[in-house]
Amino acid sequence: DLQIGEHGYKYRIVDGRVMPPYITPRCYGLSRRIETRPTDICFVSYPKSGTTWLSYIIVLLTGNAGPSLERSFCWLESSWTHPINEDELGSDPKPRLFKSHMPYDMALGGVPHQSPCKYIYIARNPKDVCSSYYYFESNKSWSGFYDGGWDHWLQMFQDGKVHRGDWFHHVLSWWEYRDADNILFLHYEHLKRNTRAELEKIAKFLGLDIPLERMDEIEGSIGFSAMKNTEFSAMKGVKEFGKFFRKGEIGSWKEYFTVAQNDRFDALYQQRVDSSGIDFIFE
Ligand code: A3P
Repeated sequence: DLQIGEHGYKYRIVDGRVMPPYITPRCYGLSRRIETRPTDICFVSYPKSGTTWLSYIIVLLTGNAGPSLERSFCWLESSWTHPINEDELGSDPKPRLFKSHMPYDMALGGVPHQSPCKYIYIARNPKDVCSSYYYFESNKSWSGFYDGGWDHWLQMFQDGKVHRGDWFHHVLSWWEYRDADNILFLHYEHLKRNTRAELEKIAKFLGLDIPLERMDEIEGSIGFSAMKNTEFSAMKGVKEFGKFFRKGEIGSWKEYFTVAQNDRFDALYQQRVDSSGIDFIFE
């Protein structure tokens, strides 16, 4: 059921949504069926929204570091990461940390607001998401999935045809449940502008009482350059953080969007986000 779209874009349709080829029915099934525990923490996002950053923060706050960042959590829905079966999961340290890029109705562990697991969703303004995603997927140094140009990518993003589907649906699906006791909804831009307050919010949500000095230490080690220079956060097969990420700033989208593209995107944004009450910082 693997499909190939324009410009070599490989994808798979899972539950009616466009997903990357490595989201296999087996792994996806496992992530849906897993019985979560009250000690579990699942961080969720649309790609390029600050997932890696949030994962590092959670690992540091919970003191749950594995041999590397990506081996400190389970990405169950994906077939190319470790561990991939439930037996291996059982022996993982507590709390078990899970990563997911699924919309609410495809979440890990079933229906989030009825599950014992804690979920932390991070959202980022869609212009930065779209351009960061383009940079990432057209990156030849690690054979990204896309080899077309920006204009076509932007159109695919607006049409909900990139991996993980429609950004608006994804973000709003979680936003709707932001007040559930076991769900924390974060914004990348708030984390960037107001790091300490957001860190404290996350710690409180996780029920952690972190000494002040430790909080200072954590705050000092999660900046973009600090993370870039930490061997711990290097990605599998791609040692350089810089090949995966641009600058970790708000507003890099301006280097990609033309004025006309920006106007069209704004109109779509108004129409789709409309009465939801969600608000983003774009620059
Ligand atoms: P840019 O492409 O704008 O640089 P994800 O982890 O979900 O794939 O998100 C990647 C984006 O998060 C990249 O955005 C990356 O730079 C940014 N990011 C990663 N670590 C960060 C940090 N410590 N501070 C700010 N942004 C960070």
